[in-house]
Amino acid sequence: MPLQDKKLFVKSYGCQMNVYDSDRMAEVLAERGYAVTRDAADADLVILNTCHIREKAAEKVYSELGRLRELKAERAARGAETMIAVAGCVAQAEGAEIKRRSPVVDLVFGPQTYHALPEMIERARVAGRAGVVETDLDVDEKFARLPARAARQNVAAFLTIQEGCDKFCTFCVVPYTRGAEYSRPVAAIEAEARRLVEGGAREITLLGQNVNAYHGEGLDGESWSLGRLLRQLDAIKGLERLRYTTSHPLDVDDELIAAHRDIASLMPFLHLPVQSGSDRILAAMNRRHSRDQYRRIVERLREARPDLALSSDFIVGFPGESDADFEDTLDLVRETGFAQAYSFKYSARPGTPAAEQEDQVPEDVKQERLAALQDLLNSQQLAFNRGFEGRRLSVLLDRPGRTARQLIGRSPYMQAVHVDFDTGDTPPRGALLEVAVTRGLANSLAAEPAA
Ligand code: 5AD
Ligand code: SF4
Repeated sequence: MPLQDKKLFVKSYGCQMNVYDSDRMAEVLAERGYAVTRDAADADLVILNTCHIREKAAEKVYSELGRLRELKAERAARGAETMIAVAGCVAQAEGAEIKRRSPVVDLVFGPQTYHALPEMIERARVAGRAGVVETDLDVDEKFARLPARAARQNVAAFLTIQEGCDKFCTFCVVPYTRGAEYSRPVAAIEAEARRLVEGGAREITLLGQNVNAYHGEGLDGESWSLGRLLRQLDAIKGLERLRYTTSHPLDVDDELIAAHRDIASLMPFLHLPVQSGSDRILAAMNRRHSRDQYRRIVERLREARPDLALSSDFIVGFPGESDADFEDTLDLVRETGFAQAYSFKYSARPGTPAAEQEDQVPEDVKQERLAALQDLLNSQQLAFNRGFEGRRLSVLLDRPGRTARQLIGRSPYMQAVHVDFDTGDTPPRGALLEVAVTRGLANSLAAEPAA
């Protein structure tokens, strides 16, 4: 088959860092003649970029592999070969076990190895049924060897600046699947950001498993914090909006708080996971901060940027969580007020300390608590969105809408805004537009162009 004719299908699970990694895999392979297809049945190479954070996420991979086994057989009947690869955090955590459970898999590779994809694919081709498993954890090497970003980019782009985590929360697999904290140098990040902007990006979200622990080599050779890095990137012409995710409360430092006060392009939205409102559970989770410390950090951030919208992650049913502990979580939510949030039932992950605890919470209790917490969070989100009715907002239109006369984008506060252009021309995708909000809904805002 000619080199130019190969088709690649990548499916991303889990967090935004996987979305970034999937894009970069496609960029590596584009240099080797692979074009992206949206249809797995067309693909010579299928990559599942997986997530290991909760059991449900990890199990999805195996059901997808079941479907791919049939697809591979159908293609083989047509005389077409299909290579199937499992990437990401399940690949890192389970390695060769994946191939034992799903022999259809040809290649298993971890999150820090994909710069070497072309070589790995060649090796897998030679290895045939034996397959290839690659789970090195050398991040430095990866970023050094990745090609420059492609010439065309999304209006709202992702940029990974930090990987791994040293916090070891007792429920979490990330320190094991992504390894130790690593921060990319400022110069490399700035060069990539400029390239993204040249490629059409107007908003960049800086990514890291623990992004505000960032401490990369600065332009002066010293270690720079996230706050300092944000100031540097703010100077890039054409870069209208900056965001970062995801953060740990303990790593919110003075420079970062000052960045929220001073940098206009830094959007007034912060995802700051707290996980629980109970001091006892926070300690058992090894979060290393109390409920009061979280409150104080939020207070200082809101002093710096009064309109800051907050988001968070919560886990209900962590081992040993009592009704009183859960009430503490509800209390913290009531008094903090979140613009949006994610909440999960605790999922025991192999190899993490909390999975070994004996006081696991029964499933029905987890379910009840999750429903109660989500009710509260949903009502806060709806109230937050309704508060925008009649107000003006700037929206970065990055997606087509449900009709030809609608475009969708994000507000500064991360709300999805559906803008209807009933009269006049529809602006091009990528426009940063002033809109008037007509309705605040559970998960979005409806708006029209401001008069
Ligand atoms: N069970 C449930 N939720 C988890 N998270 C991480 N590990 C687990 C687990 N074992 C959640 C946390 C984290 C988010 C990305 O996923 O809330 O912030
Ligand atoms: Fe996992 Fe986040 Fe805790 Fe790190 S800080 S161990 S990534 S939950």
